[in-house]
Amino acid sequence: MKKHFAILASLSLFLFSVVSAHDGSQLWLQGLAPSAISTLEIANAELNQSWKGAAPVLKLNKSMKALPDGSFSITIQAGTPTIQSASEVGLLYGAYHLIRMQQTGANVRDTALIEQPSYNIRILNHWDNLNGTIERGYAGRSIFWRNSADQMRRNADGEVNEEDLLHPKDAPEIPSFDRLRDYARANASIGINAYVPDNVNASPKVLTAEYLQEVKKMADIMRPYGMKTYLAINFASPMVIGGLSTADPLDKNVQKWWTAKVKEIYKLIPDFGGFLVKANSEGQPGPNDFGRTHAEGANMLAKALKPFKGIVMWRAFVYSPSDPDRAKQAYLEFQPLDGQFLDNVIIQIKNGPIDFQPREAYSALFGAMPQTRQMAEWQITQEYLGHSNHIAYLAPMWTEFLQQVKDIARCPINNQLLAMSNQQSAQGSKLKAQNSKLTAISAVSNVGNSPSWCGNVMAQSNWYAFGRLAWNDELPACQIADEWARLTLFPGRNDAAATKALASVRSLMLRSREAIVDCVVPRGLHHQFAWGHHDGPEPDCDILGARPDWMPSYYARADREGLGFDRSSTGSNATGQYPADYAKVLDDPETCPYDLLLWFHHVPWGKTIQHRCGSKVIRESLWDALCHHYQQGLDEARAMQRDWERCQGLIDADTFADIQRRLRIQTRDAQWWKDGCLLYFQTFSTLPFPDDVEPAVHDLDKLRAIKLGITNYECPSQELLDSVR
Ligand code: GCU
Repeated sequence: MKKHFAILASLSLFLFSVVSAHDGSQLWLQGLAPSAISTLEIANAELNQSWKGAAPVLKLNKSMKALPDGSFSITIQAGTPTIQSASEVGLLYGAYHLIRMQQTGANVRDTALIEQPSYNIRILNHWDNLNGTIERGYAGRSIFWRNSADQMRRNADGEVNEEDLLHPKDAPEIPSFDRLRDYARANASIGINAYVPDNVNASPKVLTAEYLQEVKKMADIMRPYGMKTYLAINFASPMVIGGLSTADPLDKNVQKWWTAKVKEIYKLIPDFGGFLVKANSEGQPGPNDFGRTHAEGANMLAKALKPFKGIVMWRAFVYSPSDPDRAKQAYLEFQPLDGQFLDNVIIQIKNGPIDFQPREAYSALFGAMPQTRQMAEWQITQEYLGHSNHIAYLAPMWTEFLQQVKDIARCPINNQLLAMSNQQSAQGSKLKAQNSKLTAISAVSNVGNSPSWCGNVMAQSNWYAFGRLAWNDELPACQIADEWARLTLFPGRNDAAATKALASVRSLMLRSREAIVDCVVPRGLHHQFAWGHHDGPEPDCDILGARPDWMPSYYARADREGLGFDRSSTGSNATGQYPADYAKVLDDPETCPYDLLLWFHHVPWGKTIQHRCGSKVIRESLWDALCHHYQQGLDEARAMQRDWERCQGLIDADTFADIQRRLRIQTRDAQWWKDGCLLYFQTFSTLPFPDDVEPAVHDLDKLRAIKLGITNYECPSQELLDSVR
């Protein structure tokens, strides 16, 4: 019997799911997802199918327990690798690392290394609704929830019927086992170890017994890959599904309700991670509704989770309009609560103080709450970066953020990071103390059920980059780009032609983020995006009765005198929220980083600005600089097209054609942004374009009339864009 089971198990080990080639479904991985049962079996199966050379030895080594969970070592002697870790999941990470080393051309003859993660929790947040739509998702429907959205009614403009959105005919059902297993595998291969399958604008229904059964099924699929399950919850759940008259966190019955709910969850999912909460933000309920603080709300949940080692990730994305500057809100609401949160609460803070703009100053909250655990939240999905129509590699943005908080704020992220890197040389007891710390980093995912997972193959690089940086936040963006492109676009190729094409792809990727900044919001300008769906420019958007801070004009502050938001000490004094020496630098337009000039200052159109462009120092007026940046955005979009064209014949033909098409859209969009913004700002500056800036090809009135009529759940099609601009 035992023997039969062993044969069956090893057979199933080599039964792989079927994925089709050339549609991007393979991601950066080779081979197929093993149908193995345990973590160790998966590690062995992955090595069996992908490692070329002497069979690697996998060793559990309890003495490595002092290192952060998932750490591993690899020693290769005379071509034979030994992977060691204190845990099975560490061995799995080691297996993927070893395979990646070989596939990217690293030395796999004689080497010795130890890898340990920068953060203990490396988590993807999915903004997936239970009806299958994905908020800010540009890659199809949810992989987690049934796609009843397909049955939704739409009007002539393609907008989903409001009623169907609010009351979808959803039913809890996991769409595809294979897809979820492939998802888990992809994450494990880059060290991501956690996920939240539901939107932060959370439906209370996810906590009903019916849905929790489905969450359990997901958790069972994810577990062997080391992926922990968390849930985004709605703070009013005790009222909506519990029948209570209040959700006040200090109410005994509310506390009892959460305690019982948490017990119910852990009975189903013993390794459940905890809750992610968006409270008192954009219409979501929260403790403030009952006269309580964020700390009181978070702690109530934390107490219920504590006996099970669960945590609360409480979001700081709040902006009740109590201060005229939205950029100050999170700090104003959270900083005074420092020291009041329980130790299993971690505050999840967007990298910038507004909302995932292509470039923001870092959020002043980082480092301003020394007694509180903090984690960063990044956005992989391209809400403000041209959706999945544009090619934007985001690792340069994230490494810029990490560098800023490391250099300037003495923030917990930074301290933890330094402590982590000191671990290499430190001794056991110190390592233990560090290991018990709650450290985390998160990002909003761009994954959907499109064949390429992310809407297009290039967008996969951002999922990959998040994982690699969450594992090691000192990796340079160029190394990650190189790895990803080798694994995804040129697997198994190191001939001269592929090497040349790789250089073109790398160049395209590394210039793409700055190109988009120039194209849409140069030099600290922000939020000039179209109402609602945020695709394309709408600098003069004006919605009757809407909050002023939902209008682009609130951020640009364009007038006859100049452009930009005065956040200096004589303006909103947002600069005062930063550490004193950095605040001083930001406060003076002469010393403020040029990249953030219009974020912090209202600058006269004619003021001479000195800035660097490559090795050149340029002196020009703000108006001329602005025109040059939009021109640069357009030129760079064209340059990216040329980079890509050089890869023809060297990259899979379908992928080549798809990205070529998207780069064409991107170039046309860059023209739209340049004309839409410059013609609009020109109505204030009344100055001509400099001679070396191309004249507009659109009329402002026509651009002003553009309404894409898409929801916040979709990417505009090429046909739609071509028909309006
Ligand atoms: C942005 C985004 C919303 C999202 C929100 C959040 O405002 O546009 O769709 O819900 O961020 O992060 O909660």
